[in-house]
Amino acid sequence: EQSAVMTIDGPGGAGKGTIAREVARVLGWHLLDSGAIYRLLALASLREGIDPGDSARLAERAGLLDIDFVVEGDNAGAALLEGEVVAKAIRDEACGERASVLAADPAVREALKARQQAFRQPPGLVADGRDMGTVIFPDAPVKIFLTASAEERARRRHKQLMEQGVTANLDSLLQELRARDERDSRRETAPLKPAGDAITIDTTEQSIEAVIGTVMEQVNACL
Ligand code: C5P
Repeated sequence: EQSAVMTIDGPGGAGKGTIAREVARVLGWHLLDSGAIYRLLALASLREGIDPGDSARLAERAGLLDIDFVVEGDNAGAALLEGEVVAKAIRDEACGERASVLAADPAVREALKARQQAFRQPPGLVADGRDMGTVIFPDAPVKIFLTASAEERARRRHKQLMEQGVTANLDSLLQELRARDERDSRRETAPLKPAGDAITIDTTEQSIEAVIGTVMEQVNACL
């Protein structure tokens, strides 16, 4: 029998990461940040000079990708690429942009599918991304789709970057985010969209605590 799983999908900046981390902590479950996997592949491809249009080579690289996260300590949850902490490097916009380009390639997605499913381990998994409820874990009993207005998501991203000491321009963040939403929503393979049985929560005017409360109600009702 498969162990428990719940999914949290939505566009960038909707609060998936924060909510998924907290729900996983409360439940004592594993966490899969699937966006980090696409970002890891993006970083590897940028460093290794792989042409983003070379589908065969990218899929091969994806199959060999060393997917690992720091388990304990100050860096817990940080992504590792061949043992190196790359948590910060994968968050920059060049990586996000490249990730979104690679993620539109069906061969890449296929190469990463089983690797993502392998994170489903007892006692359970909270998986966040774009297609967790539609493609990777379609049998999940609890599926959440988080949204927020593009302006609000850009504001959150801006605040997050400022806190990290990174200067950023709100208008260009908004433009980048819209371009990424477009690409993620329009691609043919695993586009960003709520699963038929997902519960959509608009977080634009809600606090993190309120959203966690709603998500936990769903979890408690279904599990
Ligand atoms: O969520 P995050 O911004 O880290 O994801 C980076 C990119 O990876 C997204 O813009 C999207 O194109 C892609 N992605 C995806 N499927 C997922 C998670 C992320 O296509 N499950």
